[in-house]
Amino acid sequence: MKILFLNGSPRKDGYTVRVMKCIEDGIESKHTVEWIHAYDLGIKPCQSCLQCRPNKECNLPKDDGHHVWHKIRSADALVIGSPTYFGNISGPLKTLIDRNLTAYEEIAASGLEMPISLHIGKKAAMVTACNAPSPISQLPNQSKGALQAMETVLTAGGYDIVGSITLDGAASKKEIPLEIQEEAKMLGVELQS
Ligand SMILES: Cc1cc2nc3c(=O)[nH]c(=O)nc-3n(C[C@H](O)[C@H](O)[C@H](O)COP(=O)(O)O)c2cc1C
Repeated sequence: MKILFLNGSPRKDGYTVRVMKCIEDGIESKHTVEWIHAYDLGIKPCQSCLQCRPNKECNLPKDDGHHVWHKIRSADALVIGSPTYFGNISGPLKTLIDRNLTAYEEIAASGLEMPISLHIGKKAAMVTACNAPSPISQLPNQSKGALQAMETVLTAGGYDIVGSITLDGAASKKEIPLEIQEEAKMLGVELQS
């Protein structure tokens, strides 16, 4: 099975990535794990032409957005992680997600029918890190907003979301707390079952 990790944090040793790596620890070595770091990519923002629906391909000149489309389409499971920025996901991750509308769902050319989710039966997990401590972190304009943004796209894709992890009060934590490490590892185990 191919498990794709989409990282929306610019910090490759930041809290988001460290929690995502704990999820990876729960995945057996027989599976293929691939990471995509949104901040490493050159992706022009979606222009909302919606030509990707009939054409089955983005109309923009080829860039990393096209490359990620194939990765998302072919992955058997997905882990999305992002720091909480103003109660949302990071800009580069949002750009990556928007550019890949048809990687998650297809809509008939008429645009009048319900979208078809392309990943029914696949599993997904979500991670966010934020500085606000609990319970403030769980407000809709805090980490909950970031998780909601990820959930929206995963739901469009039809994924079964096995769980989410919020590392709140991040700045006050030098290490990822053991219980979070264990919880994340268990998500990794669940993704492959
Ligand atoms: C632009 C920006 C906006 C942020 N907005 C919030 C926020 O709304 N709530 C919050 O608790 N933390 C916020 N933070 C703090 C980050 O969520 C926190 O530093 C997080 O640990 C970063 O994740 P990382 O360690 O994976 O880079 C913000 C940080 C930045 C740079």
